[in-house]
Amino acid sequence: MTNIETIGIIGAGQMGGGIAHVAALAGYKVRLYDISGDRIEKGIATISGNMARQVSGGKLAEDIRQEALARIGAAPNMADLAEADLVIEAATEDETVKRKIYAQICPVLNPEAILATNTSSISITRLASQTDRPERFIGIHFMNPVPVMKLVELVRGIATEDQTFEASKEFVRRLDKTATVSEDFPAFIVNRILLPMINEAIYTLYEGVGSVEAIDTAMRLGANHPMGPLQLADFIGLDTCLSIMQVLHDGLSDSKYRPCPLLVKYVEAGWLGRKTGRGFYDYRGEHPVPTR
Ligand code: CAA
Repeated sequence: MTNIETIGIIGAGQMGGGIAHVAALAGYKVRLYDISGDRIEKGIATISGNMARQVSGGKLAEDIRQEALARIGAAPNMADLAEADLVIEAATEDETVKRKIYAQICPVLNPEAILATNTSSISITRLASQTDRPERFIGIHFMNPVPVMKLVELVRGIATEDQTFEASKEFVRRLDKTATVSEDFPAFIVNRILLPMINEAIYTLYEGVGSVEAIDTAMRLGANHPMGPLQLADFIGLDTCLSIMQVLHDGLSDSKYRPCPLLVKYVEAGWLGRKTGRGFYDYRGEHPVPTR
């Protein structure tokens, strides 16, 4: 089996940072790449803060935190990922962006290295075909927040070899997470079910059935969800929610997946949720305030 010791991560945002966090804690050497040194630094600072949260919650010892942080290095250039045995691309959910990244990364990678994507919805088979290694390409899909959520979806493309799949499964096991296997169909399992629920919550708001507060309270207290669907949409990012709905709509050609016009409007306004300070809630004050 491919021996994985060094992990390269492309994208130091919410997901890439979370993956770097858990990989470093599991003892892997991590190299974190993003398009600017500034973004990498910010990503590492967030990881450090999230680990500190785990220390203050009694879930992690401070010396383990320091050791894990020391295993994370900045990779200012793609070429700095050359030593990686597994590279996980966690860039934005945009196929053109991902395609450009693969064109840049493939020539510098070790020919034996596995290339994985954290895509939450795009076809693994199609993404694999943009690379020089479809047999060593796989979907390893983490959930947000990565340090807390136990699940990872593994998605094989049509060409993914058993060795790639087994090595990825072992990687997930070493992270102390549970892998589920999904066939390569739009949005896989979690998002195929979760995003239409969120989209329906937005329709419920759009049609005036309930306010933001009523909808979120209903699902938190009436269905025991840890977050209301609109709060969760803001947490995931409304641009990501919209792009997943578009992938479902285009990929399955069923009108039941049409994105709610209100979701489109929020994205067009740049109100993308927590990351931009405003979405279904306004986060700029001391407490989140519903925007409708
Ligand atoms: N890093 C480390 N620890 C974190 C963390 C992070 N980023 N975020 C939260 N935590 C920890 C907190 O420190 C806290 O630890 P203690 O129990 O030791 O205090 C614990 O997690 C719970 O957090 P909070 O007390 O702040 O808040 P909470 O109880 O409301 O839990 C939550 C927060 C875990 C996010 C919870 O609300 C939840 O599970 N929400 C649903 C998340 C979800 O559905 N995620 C999937 C999204 S879909 C997806 O990711 C797929 C996709 O492709 C779009």
